[in-house]
Amino acid sequence: MAAGLFITFEGIDGSGKSTQARMLADRLREAGHTVVLTREPGGSKGAEEIRALVLQGDPDRWSAETEILLFTAARRDHLEKTIQPALDAGKIVICDRFADSTRLYQGISRGDLRAVVDKLHALMIGREPDLTFIIDMDPAKGLARALSRQTADERFEGFGEDLQAKMRAGFLDLADEYPERCVVVDGDREVKAVADEVELIVNARAAAPAASA
Ligand code: ADP
Ligand code: TYD
Repeated sequence: MAAGLFITFEGIDGSGKSTQARMLADRLREAGHTVVLTREPGGSKGAEEIRALVLQGDPDRWSAETEILLFTAARRDHLEKTIQPALDAGKIVICDRFADSTRLYQGISRGDLRAVVDKLHALMIGREPDLTFIIDMDPAKGLARALSRQTADERFEGFGEDLQAKMRAGFLDLADEYPERCVVVDGDREVKAVADEVELIVNARAAAPAASA
């Protein structure tokens, strides 16, 4: 894996992304790999500051367009300071959410802004993951799991089940749109069963000859 490997986890809130990202990082480290575990929004000093701006406060604080700029600004800093240097050093980067979250949350939840998200991504980010796990989950169960955690990052958690259902469908559509890098994994199973499947898929990818980008 000399060229590094960029793995992301996506899915609705409460689907188990953070849990699975952490477990995969632990397992790959045990196998002797150097792993950088990171998350969005955040993952670098500047991006963590933007995280507080986008996730805390009044739900009407930002327009959808401003939000796209803020998430993309955070991602640009994260890519420059954390992700790209680690990949250049041949490390495995595991990121809890990335650009697919912006494609959905800012792209479809408040009007049809997907084209704007994609243009800004092409202009300012221009990097897709090598492998994306879409953790699929029943919206009601995901929401119950997410709400059982008490955090200050609550701007998006008033979304409710309808929007969670829309997001779930959107993530499954993204998997069809980017079949070369996306794998859908059933998140409604025991944590270990999900982690075992994820690990198998990563090991198969890592062993395969480098695919064309
Ligand atoms: P996400 O990052 O997708 O929002 P988390 O990994 O933070 O999800 O999980 C949300 C909550 O659900 C946490 O309390 C976590 O311990 C729990 N959880 C995660 N995966 C499972 C699972 N497969 N079965 C049951 N509970 C889970
Ligand atoms: P996160 O901390 O991953 O929350 P959770 O663990 O509940 O999934 O993300 C916080 C929220 O930020 C989440 O509701 C999705 C939202 N988000 C966006 O709206 N756009 C983005 O580009 C990203 C990365 C996250």
